[in-house]
Amino acid sequence: MRTQVGIIGAGPAGLMLSHLLHLQGIESIVIEDRSREYVEGRIRAGVLEHWAADLLDETGLGERMAREGLMHGGINISINGALHYLDFKALTGRGIMVYGQHEVVKDLIAARLAAGEQIIFGVKDVRVEAIDSKQPVIRFTTNGKASAIACDFIGGCDGFHGICRPSIPEGALTTFERSYPFGWLGILAASPPPDHELIYAYHDRGFALFSMRSPSVSRLYLQCDPEEHIAAWPDDRIWDELHTRLGDKQRSRLAEGAVLQKGITAMRSFVVEPMQYGRLFLTGDAAHIVPPTGAKGMNLAIADVVVLARALKEFYRTGRNDLVQQYSSACLRRVWKAQRFSWYMTSMLHRFHNDNPFDQRRQLAELDYVTSSEAAAKALAENYTGLPMEGSVRYLIV
Ligand code: APR
Ligand code: PHB
Repeated sequence: MRTQVGIIGAGPAGLMLSHLLHLQGIESIVIEDRSREYVEGRIRAGVLEHWAADLLDETGLGERMAREGLMHGGINISINGALHYLDFKALTGRGIMVYGQHEVVKDLIAARLAAGEQIIFGVKDVRVEAIDSKQPVIRFTTNGKASAIACDFIGGCDGFHGICRPSIPEGALTTFERSYPFGWLGILAASPPPDHELIYAYHDRGFALFSMRSPSVSRLYLQCDPEEHIAAWPDDRIWDELHTRLGDKQRSRLAEGAVLQKGITAMRSFVVEPMQYGRLFLTGDAAHIVPPTGAKGMNLAIADVVVLARALKEFYRTGRNDLVQQYSSACLRRVWKAQRFSWYMTSMLHRFHNDNPFDQRRQLAELDYVTSSEAAAKALAENYTGLPMEGSVRYLIV
């Protein structure tokens, strides 16, 4: 097989890259080691920055999002049960879109297939070769048979545990990392959200987040020990803790319902530099991980591929190589700002077990500041709704 851009991974990054390239007349093939059902059912994050929602819309993917997505004008911050609203619309003129990552993935897969493009699911033994040449190759097995894609460029969109990043020679990359002494226990529940807007709750017992997927389905998270076994959290314990951290003493604000999915995720911040080597480009989780408190994971993945698609467009149209060479540095400016913001939200809202009383008072002062100062709230709102994308997103699709 031969194509212009070989893409490894059918998450939001790989699929969106293929979609944007297609709109510019550039061919690609996506390979994915899981099944279509698996990637379409994998529950992940759910917040799109305003420009990312616009991008989906402007590139023909907005129909179901307009019907099923939930436009939000702000978020609530709860401090030991007291609710404070940050009005993003008033502060920045912008809101955000709550629409599950797996819904974005479903829409992207449908669009790729409708355009007659190939996504090869269930591949195994994926390897990349000759990445520092002009003719890199992706090798894999599909249905037990060895196969290969010869291409001009490789999109390394295979997530944090993929093979692309480790295929880059040791010594070419520098990693920056920190872990957090907690994880998130997340559930999807058949229960109406306690508020129209998301609630980020600081509580002396730990952080909780009240998000949603529809007017009757909530996505709820609790700060927990990262080593915790899910068996230690029967549904009753989860609901008790959610009521407590919301300050819902009467158990009247949060309606309980069937728990549809349950899982624990560790929290980490991770960046690799540079995000490219030869003709292999790392995008999304393959290059960086943020703790989910700032809701930046899916947005950063989409931002990376916008930059990459723009660079490849320039390359194929004019033969210019400079945007391709600047891919990593262009992405990293946004990546580090998202890292900073995700770290800020995480450290402001969680309990750290090694807290000394000074740090705890300082943390409460931070929460008081952000919920009472317009300047502080505006900075949070600007970052949450999405820092400006450099250059126009429209430029990509004209
Ligand atoms: N070969 C092919 N596909 C692979 C391989 C491999 N060796 N290894 C992993 N994959 C696939 C995974 O199964 C997954 O579908 O690559 C895809 C990577 O997708 P994501 O993990 O969703 O990463 P990305 O597209 O960068 O999106 C980032 O995902 O984890 C969330 O919070 C994160 O919202 C962010 C988003
Ligand atoms: C979600 O709805 O899954 C979600 C929302 C906001 C976050 C993280 C996750 O910060």
